[in-house]
Amino acid sequence: MYSFSECLLLVASLLLHNANIAAGRIALSDTETSIKVEKCGKPEFQSIQDIPLDGNIPLSPRGPYKTSGGPIQGKLNVHVVPHTHDDVGWLKTVDQYFYGRNSSIQNAAVQFIIDTVVLALEENPDRKFIYVEIAFFKRWWDEQSPAKQASVKRLVVNGQLEFINGGWCMSDEAAPFYVDMVDQQTLGHLFLKEHFGEKAAPRAGWQIDPFGHSNFMATAYALMGMDSWFFGRIDYQDRAKRENQTTLEMVMHPSASLGSSVDIFTGVTRGYGFPSGFCWEHNQDDPICDDPRMEEINVKSRVDDFVSAALEQAEHYANKDGNIMFTMGEDFCYENAFPWFVNMDKLIHYVNLDGRVNAFYSTPSMYTDAKHAANVTWTTKTDDWFPYCDGSATYDPSTARIDTNDGHAQWTGYFTSRAALKRNVRAASSLLQSCRQLGLLQHAHASKDAWCPPPFEAAVAGSSLWEGLGLAQHHDAVSGTSKQHVADDYAVHLQRGSDACQASMAGALEQLSGAGQLVYCPKLNESICEATTLWTEGNISVVVYNPLGQERVEFLRIPIGASGGVSVIDATTFQCVEAQIVAESTGGRTLAVEAALPATGYSVYTLVAGAGPQCRAADTSERRLVSPSGSNSIQNAMLRVVVDPATNQLAALENKKIGKTVRMTQWWGYYIASDGHHQEARERLGQASGAYIFRPACAEGDVEPCLPTSVAESGSGNSSRPNTTILE
Ligand SMILES: *[C@@H]1O[C@H](CO)[C@@H](O)[C@H](O)[C@H]1NC(C)=O
Ligand SMILES: *[C@@H]1O[C@H](CO)[C@@H](O)[C@H](O)[C@H]1NC(C)=O
Ligand SMILES: *[C@@H]1O[C@H](CO)[C@@H](O)[C@H](O)[C@H]1NC(C)=O
Ligand SMILES: *[C@@H]1O[C@H](CO)[C@@H](O)[C@H](O)[C@H]1NC(C)=O
Ligand SMILES: *[C@@H]1O[C@H](CO)[C@@H](O)[C@H](O)[C@H]1NC(C)=O
Ligand SMILES: *[C@@H]1O[C@H](CO)[C@@H](O)[C@H](O)[C@H]1NC(C)=O
Ligand SMILES: *[C@@H]1O[C@H](CO)[C@@H](O)[C@H](O)[C@H]1NC(C)=O
Repeated sequence: MYSFSECLLLVASLLLHNANIAAGRIALSDTETSIKVEKCGKPEFQSIQDIPLDGNIPLSPRGPYKTSGGPIQGKLNVHVVPHTHDDVGWLKTVDQYFYGRNSSIQNAAVQFIIDTVVLALEENPDRKFIYVEIAFFKRWWDEQSPAKQASVKRLVVNGQLEFINGGWCMSDEAAPFYVDMVDQQTLGHLFLKEHFGEKAAPRAGWQIDPFGHSNFMATAYALMGMDSWFFGRIDYQDRAKRENQTTLEMVMHPSASLGSSVDIFTGVTRGYGFPSGFCWEHNQDDPICDDPRMEEINVKSRVDDFVSAALEQAEHYANKDGNIMFTMGEDFCYENAFPWFVNMDKLIHYVNLDGRVNAFYSTPSMYTDAKHAANVTWTTKTDDWFPYCDGSATYDPSTARIDTNDGHAQWTGYFTSRAALKRNVRAASSLLQSCRQLGLLQHAHASKDAWCPPPFEAAVAGSSLWEGLGLAQHHDAVSGTSKQHVADDYAVHLQRGSDACQASMAGALEQLSGAGQLVYCPKLNESICEATTLWTEGNISVVVYNPLGQERVEFLRIPIGASGGVSVIDATTFQCVEAQIVAESTGGRTLAVEAALPATGYSVYTLVAGAGPQCRAADTSERRLVSPSGSNSIQNAMLRVVVDPATNQLAALENKKIGKTVRMTQWWGYYIASDGHHQEARERLGQASGAYIFRPACAEGDVEPCLPTSVAESGSGNSSRPNTTILE
């Protein structure tokens, strides 16, 4: 907001300006050459295009700047990749980030990023930008006029605006379930396909911020048709070695079973920020000043800075192929895209006049093409990039030794942070799969005689839950690293989506089963289901849906009223169904029903109040542990799991194939979190445990890793370890 006095100032200077024009001259400043402006005539600008005023670089103030270009063989090619990293919730909620609300928390407003980037791209067809998070982009898109949408389509078609990654968010890679990771990518890609066509399918994975990387991600990206992926965070010792050996870029060979079909070019970026000194967010760093009519021309020094940043990075990246990538951006950068693009235009122009390196606007796909064209051989890697640890280290190639004086910033805390949100996400994910299946089954049912592929709407049944889950996969969502009010917001999205899904599932099952009007009972874990607890007479139908691809037998627990008998009848066969009434310690009663469920299908049971004795559910207050074979183990063809009947805990695991048994002792313990200061005397140990980083508080002199405190034997637990012995 402008203060009142600033507004007044603005008006006053405009008046002055007008007065000068009326007088026929503009005085630029006391010290500068003044330029004569003929009243109503064409201004006579001095030709300053070719005057070398700063080093040997001819200046061209206000352009035209030459910003076209691409890789040149034999030169160091600097791919300038303008980007913004827009978290779909972290310190602020996704909506607060979009609107730019709550700036006291963080200055970030995604709507203006996309607004100004699009304007800046429209101004100069050489400029490029990549955009990643479709959760934000779709919101922006939905608010645009058809003319603006058409303009954006042109930018996409001519390669200026490229969607990278293209998921709903930039997902975490440790905490999400793989189905959800694929789903959130699908959701974003469906949007891109719908509005920009298949040609806009992202070619590069872009996971520059998540805290460690899974080889599944490489497999998934390859299967999504991408030919590269990039990320910024790897273990600091690994980085030290790879920087020295120029192996930060490689080919991932992530799947033994899928083989080379899922090999993918993989690049570890330098974090994901701008090179030091080249940030123009809120005009942070020095702009390029090149107008000889003004003071402080700095073109030479800015070019020198750029070239030395490029040469330094090239030592660790480009020894084989002559291409490096500058990730020109940071978290929520380009809220005003103009300082960025105006300065980058000038830099590219002057750097190329200087000639030591070749700079141009680029994207990760162009970069990958350049790497590919160089026809060099890359190292390979097959496994995960977990856990991720921050720190500083040096690698000595002569001894192959990594010297480290850190190592306490292990980003493993987020594997368990906000456990309740993690569980919430899993439950919602399972609901979404059921919801989607029932949407399709309903569609198939409706078009039974002439089955045709379902329309988009049927396929996306439950899309508000799909979107909520898309948000929740973000690397500050399910990871548990957002602020409390943001975590609450994720829960709201999941709940809203779940409510919608439950309603649509009830609708689908009504139509499919003909069982009458159905209500979904989401609170069975608290024995709450009014439809059954308030029911006292007549019949009610219970429909049970099994989303798994195999038949199963489950014991349903249905809360019922305080008195009266119940019969349970299979509504298809009219046979009695085995059931039992259990009196709960809380005073309520539960009807336990042995339900046989078909694969990806439903069963309907009729509950009859106080019916005939042949079907009557046994009424008992006794709880019995049913052990059909009297055995304390379960098994399949491969494994036998033995439980200790005294404790109900795992006792042994047998590998039936090789005939080996591992005896197990289960043992629950917890770690005390380090506050980071308990060993202040030993400098460097100041890392505290928290939502991101797990660091147990070890006693002075403990050999790390220190042991957890046992829950059972609190206090003494850290002196004994779990017992695992292999018996022949
Ligand atoms: C965000 O801003 C709104 C409006 O100013 C305010 O009501 C709300 O408390 C703020 N939220 C947080 C988490 O600061
Ligand atoms: C690798 O380390 C050695 C020894 O410190 C150093 O001489 C060499 O320049 C390093 N190479 C790179 C690419 O950093
Ligand atoms: C690529 O490199 C291989 C091995 O170095 C060589 O056999 C091949 O001819 C090269 N291909 C091109 C197109 O340069
Ligand atoms: C039952 O489930 C809901 C949502 O899944 C959860 O919020 C609630 O805490 C659960 N209740 C109990 C007693 O565990
Ligand atoms: C309740 O179900 C039983 C068993 O299927 C049936 O005999 C009876 O007619 C039903 N009663 C009503 C009111 O629907
Ligand atoms: C380990 O056990 C000792 C006592 O046996 C206790 O003093 C110490 O606090 C424990 N350490 C941790 C980290 O729990
Ligand atoms: C660990 O297993 C071995 C072999 O069965 C047994 O002798 C030992 O008592 C066990 N120790 C504990 C603490 O359970």
